[in-house]
Amino acid sequence: MMQTIHRSIQNEDFETIGKSGIILLKWSKEMINYFPKGSDVAPSEASGDIWLDPEGFKKAVNNFELASLKLVDNSKEKNLDKTVVAFRGLARTCKGCHQKFRN
Ligand code: HEC
Repeated sequence: MMQTIHRSIQNEDFETIGKSGIILLKWSKEMINYFPKGSDVAPSEASGDIWLDPEGFKKAVNNFELASLKLVDNSKEKNLDKTVVAFRGLARTCKGCHQKFRN
């Protein structure tokens, strides 16, 4: 998914960027339901911190949602500079959450 977006940025394929962004946006809205308490058992890499710090996790999900939305909006404008910035911001929200909440 991130590779698809990255490649689409290089090709200035705003339609594909927008579509990918919408998939991520939907995922961000559903994500919270995929981590019920107790799902931090093997083989899952979900960290127990998700349930120790539910507010922090919600915030990370929310940052991810906002970043996806920004990517979708900027790709609609077909503004390459803004789209690149939005993509970097989005990648940071993936990494930020993984560092904190993935084992
Ligand atoms: C709010 C937290 C959060 C955000 C944001 C997030 N992830 Fe994750 N991600 C996780 C957790 C937790 C796991 C571990 C899930 C498991 O093993 O059950 C994970 C697992 C993964 C995996 C491992 C393979 C898999 O499907 O289990 C990949 C790849 C991945 N994430 C990619 C991404 C990308 C790309 C983004 C950004 C576009 C992203 N994630 C954003 C929390 C997040």
